[in-house]
Amino acid sequence: MREQLLAFVSRRGTLLEPAAVEYLLSQQDPMGPLDRFFASCAELPLMVTLQDVVRTADLGRTAALRAQVNAAPAVALRVPAAVAAPSREASASFRRQSESASDHAPDVRILRDITGRSTCEGTLEDFTRYFRNRFQTLSRMLRNRRELGGAQEISKARRSTREVRFIGMVSDVRDTKNGHRILELEDETDRISVLVLADSSSASETFVNDEVVGIVGKVNDRGLVIAESVVRPDIPVVRPFRGIGEHIRAAFISDVHVGSTTFLDEKWSKLTTWMSSDDELARSLRYLVVSGDVVDGIGVYPRQDEELAIDDIYGQYEALAKMMAPLPDHLTVIMIPGNHDAVRPAEPQPALPQPIRKLFDSNLIFAGNPSLVSLHGVKVLAYHGRSMDDFVSAIPGMNYHRPLDAMREMLKMRHLAPIYGGKTPIAPEAEDHLNVDEVPDIFATGHVHSVGVDAYRGVVLVNSSTWQAQTPYQKMRNIEPLPARLPIVDLGTGAAVIKEF
Ligand SMILES: [Fe+2]
Ligand SMILES: [Fe+2]
Repeated sequence: MREQLLAFVSRRGTLLEPAAVEYLLSQQDPMGPLDRFFASCAELPLMVTLQDVVRTADLGRTAALRAQVNAAPAVALRVPAAVAAPSREASASFRRQSESASDHAPDVRILRDITGRSTCEGTLEDFTRYFRNRFQTLSRMLRNRRELGGAQEISKARRSTREVRFIGMVSDVRDTKNGHRILELEDETDRISVLVLADSSSASETFVNDEVVGIVGKVNDRGLVIAESVVRPDIPVVRPFRGIGEHIRAAFISDVHVGSTTFLDEKWSKLTTWMSSDDELARSLRYLVVSGDVVDGIGVYPRQDEELAIDDIYGQYEALAKMMAPLPDHLTVIMIPGNHDAVRPAEPQPALPQPIRKLFDSNLIFAGNPSLVSLHGVKVLAYHGRSMDDFVSAIPGMNYHRPLDAMREMLKMRHLAPIYGGKTPIAPEAEDHLNVDEVPDIFATGHVHSVGVDAYRGVVLVNSSTWQAQTPYQKMRNIEPLPARLPIVDLGTGAAVIKEF
């Protein structure tokens, strides 16, 4: 086994630290941690150390995700967008563990979805009710945090001379010339200014308008609160991945943009041919989650008609339905809309309407954007991801190549589209469907035409690429898409890989 290990590593042009060899030999599956380590590396190190393999083994043992508690910098199954290299393939152990999806009946339940439940008319009262619901839901989460026990209303907190704790919605964020930050917060009783000092632990955090945060601090004699800490709703307790005991997989696509002249039909054919093939990985796919922008749409942006190969909206969906028809029977498809689809643009968006649904195979499941869907008991939060446009504009350093950064922020804020009044239109429903009320096991988005998988505090993050080449608009804005990549997540372990076509 020792020789096998050394040969395995040297074939990859790297070395193995002697202590790592001894450690691996003491493991039940010595190759497994190495396999996963190589799958996680953008660039291989000169030498694989004991620390590398221990961390990888730990991650594997805890279904890859529990280890996020330690905020380990190199996550075994992480494939950041920038390193989704063309040759990257599923690791041997991921492939080896494949189970045949056709041996498992589908088990899909839609747990949360606006479809059929929309009540808003867009009146001023609707907006007041909507923001009240958002504030109440998020402040309820914050009140459960130990740090915010006994949180007061802002009107009471501002009169206090001792330490105060309160919860507010951010109405403005600005930086002072000394590098401090001032947050304006409000609740239903009052508003207050909070100073986050440049040398405090919260100074490096990013804040956006309309998110809800908790503050622990002291009021100074000018009525300004000096924050000791800023508490986000976040995911306070890191849980292990809710594995199902079987190695069947869910694959994720989005942004197919059928009807566009830049739709990649050859890549798509490769995908559908592979999905129907005898490849063990393909046969392990039980679910396909399609996170919106399934067609290019009509009139979505100025002069779009010049970039359309199919200029009829039904024609576009008909073409998509034909393209999906060859997908194998063992694959259950769940489809939500995005901002290019033929439903209202305001989020939450309902599922595609009946005249479009009937173009597709009857076993396809349509849901709204966002939707919380249970796949064999694994909870998947599928959201197209339009709000990433607002995150990119609002937060310095955030960009379209790093969608997972925005997704982590959404989970910290427990809201999919916190910034109101930007590019993401929001329908003021009675209940805020964009709150992340329930922590999912998998959080999937699309929209930015990038790709990536990672984990945050026990939640698998997936951003699901595109099947469209660079558009003239993207070229103008210097956005380089990463098309034709397929993230695949094992529902047994939460392990994830990206397959390129
Ligand atoms: Fe898109
Ligand atoms: Fe989109």
